[in-house]
Amino acid sequence: MTRILPVVVLDRADQAEPLGAALLAGGIDTMEITLRTAAGLDGIRRARSLDGVRVGAGSVLTPEHVDQVVDAGAEFIVCPGLSAAVVERARHHGVDILPGVATPTDLMAAVALGLDRVKLFPAGLLGGPAWIAALSAPFPGMRFVPSGGVTAANLADYLAIPAVDQVSGSWMVTRELIAGGDWDRVTALSARAVQNRD
Ligand code: 3PG
Repeated sequence: MTRILPVVVLDRADQAEPLGAALLAGGIDTMEITLRTAAGLDGIRRARSLDGVRVGAGSVLTPEHVDQVVDAGAEFIVCPGLSAAVVERARHHGVDILPGVATPTDLMAAVALGLDRVKLFPAGLLGGPAWIAALSAPFPGMRFVPSGGVTAANLADYLAIPAVDQVSGSWMVTRELIAGGDWDRVTALSARAVQNRD
């Protein structure tokens, strides 16, 4: 799987298939569709019709959201923070869960839940790569997916950190690009990201 995880906000569910195809053409075979808009759930359903794209749900806040996105076909779940109830519901369904952390206390809670992979959110505001370098020391087994403020310009700094296996962000799938149906640009930005170029 690619080390880039696009964070997608859909205004219309029918944007999901051309967007997924544009990402795939650029070498990105996964996408997180958020529940921030009403189109999110249906967008997940539609994106699942694409071959070769792993579709997840983002901005998942409650166990009820977990049930809804699993029903829509989500193959993984991403949260902005850490909720034991959400983690447990995802495990109940056998779906991968990537909760968010922002402090060492969150990381200890993640360890207590048996997690070894977390999203760092909002990574840029928390201190970026330096935060991960500092927190990797006391949590040597933890893997991080930084999200929030990751761009084409700082992508390489994050990916160079051994504890980072993936980064997430919206720079190749901005709402403007999606609204304008600018799929060629999505593909071009994705290809550059995969090649780790800004
Ligand atoms: C988000 O909150 O939408 C994700 O963390 C992505 O953030 P970004 O838009 O700064 O890439």
